[in-house]
Amino acid sequence: MSLHEAPEYSDIKVFQVKGKHIVLGISGGIAAYKSAHLLRLLVKQGAEVQVVITPNGKEFITPVTLSSLSGKPVVSEFFTANTGEWHSHVDLGLWADLMVIAPATASTIAKMANGVADNMLVTTYLSAKEHVMVAPAMDLDMWAHPSTQRNVATLRADGVEIIEPAEGELASHLVGRGRMEEPENIVKRIREYFNRSESMTGLRVAITAGPTYERIDPVRFIGNYSSGKMGFALAEECSARGAEVTLIAGPVAIETRSPRIRRIDVESAQEMHNVALGEFAASDIGIFSAAVADYRPLKAESSKIKREHNDGMSIELVRNPDIAFDCTRSRRPGQVFVGFALETDDEMANAASKLERKGLDMIVLNSLRDKGAGFRTDTNKVTIVTATGEAAYPLKTKREVAADIVDAIENLMGARGESCGD
Ligand code: CTP
Repeated sequence: MSLHEAPEYSDIKVFQVKGKHIVLGISGGIAAYKSAHLLRLLVKQGAEVQVVITPNGKEFITPVTLSSLSGKPVVSEFFTANTGEWHSHVDLGLWADLMVIAPATASTIAKMANGVADNMLVTTYLSAKEHVMVAPAMDLDMWAHPSTQRNVATLRADGVEIIEPAEGELASHLVGRGRMEEPENIVKRIREYFNRSESMTGLRVAITAGPTYERIDPVRFIGNYSSGKMGFALAEECSARGAEVTLIAGPVAIETRSPRIRRIDVESAQEMHNVALGEFAASDIGIFSAAVADYRPLKAESSKIKREHNDGMSIELVRNPDIAFDCTRSRRPGQVFVGFALETDDEMANAASKLERKGLDMIVLNSLRDKGAGFRTDTNKVTIVTATGEAAYPLKTKREVAADIVDAIENLMGARGESCGD
């Protein structure tokens, strides 16, 4: 196909890309010549594209070609040499609705995975607040190498979408996996992303995440191993699809990336309960992913409990409120509520009974018997259970699992005749 033809983009979805701000990152590989075509297709569809190229990238394609196609000066250095003008990677990161790195070499992928910010492309990536896609291009052995695969897995866990390289003849004349995906297919993925990114526009989502800490005295608490990663990934995914997200987080050590997520930090189950009642009542979709402590000490001591005062001790515990149960009790028509169940035995039976008992529309079941599932991992293996059936998914990163869960929620709403965004 010539640069001037793009018949398959003449349908209505073309407009999803129109007016979007896209940062196109180009690193130094033979496939950089294909980036000109990618750039041309994006501009033709009405996107505003800012090219950021690595110093090596310029050895493969000239900035003059790229700036002519994009209509904007290409950014490569931190400063413009003759004027001393500083190029703000932060501004670029905030400007972008999407960042696409194509081609991404093994070295750029390694730098991105490890935060090695020694060029404009990686600094822009580190400042990017919205979705990032990476189209790797390298020789087959480099792609298959454990270090590349490790770095790719890190990027996936960080929420980066990997456009897998295709099989074919490579620059080395060897044949195998490593060719950058064709520009037409990258544009297709970009369009799919923008379609998806608007699928939850106008919907309000409330999510509980992380553990709760139940105070024993000023220095001790009862808690659990939940890291909050699954709930945070869900918040990012819903936000990326255009939803207004409120994330009620127990004590966790992770940050929210999307500036659109409204985060409310709490410590105990009672605090989470108090905040959740109002937030879930106002939401269209409620997701209970927090590992709420079922019990709390009857009395939290105001001073540190001293060792010498006790030969042994027992703490009297009382039951915490069931946040999911209480929030679903006064449901409005059309609301969708999703819970989690982390089980060790009789998984399906327990999940089905929780679905019923807690008034939920969907349970995301993970079994502690599955390796890589549950607490403190970057991966999860889930079965999604609804009143009409169940679907088991393979082991994936938590961000990918979040996308599957949100797809399932959207399908459920679609099946109920609730069109998302209405
Ligand atoms: N949940 C909640 N409030 C609680 C306990 C649980 O909102 N006090 C929610 C969790 O966020 C999850 C679902 O209920 O979505 C199931 O949590 P789980 O701990 O598996 O259920 P429990 O009711 O605590 O049952 P059990 O511990 O006996 O398995």
